[in-house]
Amino acid sequence: MNFDTVVAGGTLATASDVFRADIGIKDGRIAAVAEHLEGGERIDASGKFVLPGGIEAHCHIAQESAAGLMTADDYASGSRSAALGGNTTFIPFAAQAKGELPTETLDRYAARAEGVSVIDWSNHLIVSDLTSQALENLPKAFERGIPSFKVFMTYAIRIDDRAFLDVLATAKEGGGLAMVHAENHGLLDWTIDRLARAGHTAPKFHAPSRPAAAEAEAIRRAIALAEFLDAPLFIVHVSTPEGAEAVRDARARGARLFSETCPQYLFLTADDLDRPGMEGAKFICSPPVRDAATAKTLWHHLRLGTFDLISSDHAPYRADATGKFANGADAPFPKIANGMPGIAARLPMMFSEGVMAGRLSLQRFVQITSSEAARIHGLQGRKGTLAIGADADLAIWDPAVEKTLTLSDMGDAMDYTPFEGLRVRGWPVQVMVRGTTVVKDGAVTAPQGHGEFLPRTGPDMTDLPGSGALELAPDRMFGADIAPKLP
Ligand code: URP
Ligand code: ZN
Ligand code: ZN
Repeated sequence: MNFDTVVAGGTLATASDVFRADIGIKDGRIAAVAEHLEGGERIDASGKFVLPGGIEAHCHIAQESAAGLMTADDYASGSRSAALGGNTTFIPFAAQAKGELPTETLDRYAARAEGVSVIDWSNHLIVSDLTSQALENLPKAFERGIPSFKVFMTYAIRIDDRAFLDVLATAKEGGGLAMVHAENHGLLDWTIDRLARAGHTAPKFHAPSRPAAAEAEAIRRAIALAEFLDAPLFIVHVSTPEGAEAVRDARARGARLFSETCPQYLFLTADDLDRPGMEGAKFICSPPVRDAATAKTLWHHLRLGTFDLISSDHAPYRADATGKFANGADAPFPKIANGMPGIAARLPMMFSEGVMAGRLSLQRFVQITSSEAARIHGLQGRKGTLAIGADADLAIWDPAVEKTLTLSDMGDAMDYTPFEGLRVRGWPVQVMVRGTTVVKDGAVTAPQGHGEFLPRTGPDMTDLPGSGALELAPDRMFGADIAPKLP
């Protein structure tokens, strides 16, 4: 066969196997995986690992926050940064503005990404104003290949439990997926108010202002609502052992539940919020970073499979008046933008402290950074694998490279990285999207707009039995048949 490119001599890893083979690429797809392939441009991957490119399924790009602040990264800088960190696909959020129809939101965000992104992209829709018109319009998102709807249980954009049920039911009926930021708003509000009234407004008080109990209660409530409808649900950025245990227990019951944690909950602690002056503001994100014991337990859940994914939750706000300090250089913590960057650091950190440190097999690394994201977010077969016919989205990792993470390696529009100074082993030295090299040796080599929109389907739930939605069974409801149906 006449290949365009052959990636030769590398050690390949997929979600299930690690083996030596060459990859033959033709027309942007993997055309052959075999020994001794010849033809086309030759990329020498000997001594390196060739993995499916990362899929970043939780990131905020060119997005207004709940408080109306625009992220520092747009689809140009955000996708470049993602690519530099070994990602080939990302799925940022499209956030509904007040009064907007979901299709209008999706149009607005598509215009921000199209012709700009370097890597392939899709969006999750954030639903925050579920008027009757918005609810009626919501299923149109499926027709556009956007089957994932995220809701918040806190912030100004929160929705109530009734609206949450409508989103869960709509997602289920269309074969899609609801996602949730789960923290108990009332509990947070109460704690923040008490701290503020006592004059505790420094960044370090962000941590106690959002206790584990707030996350645990909201995760349990979210799961209860999803199980009531037997609807699929993805719990984003789980940061507590209590939250992880609630997820694990629900899955054991058969719930159609997915979840993730993020590197910040594994690598940072509340001590970082207590750095001198206002440095701690750089580490304000929600849920907050917690303590070393929590991080250890979250690693445990990641290895055991409680979490399907590790996502960056890249939410970039610069440490200046455009971002963290939009409300003043010494703003009280509730007025400091929530979120931190991490889209470029996610994979190197997990490769180093996971694979190189012996905590994660290469297969598990591929699962939590790529293949499971493809399975959950409807990209299976095309992304997250090295199978024949899949897009040739590859990250070539050199395990011999050692680096100290620093801002200039991140390639984003930020003025800090929360992971500055972290020593990592292993680096994605070459990254390819559909057979085109987009990153080589720390430089972005593809033009803006190389990335394509990816229409997606809903999650693969073949292996998830579901909880049965017994209370919604017509025979227990005097014949009333109101439960949402799986398509
Ligand atoms: O603090 C965070 N995580 N900001 C981004 C928005 C969100 O909650 O994911
Ligand atoms: Zn969130
Ligand atoms: Zn987020």
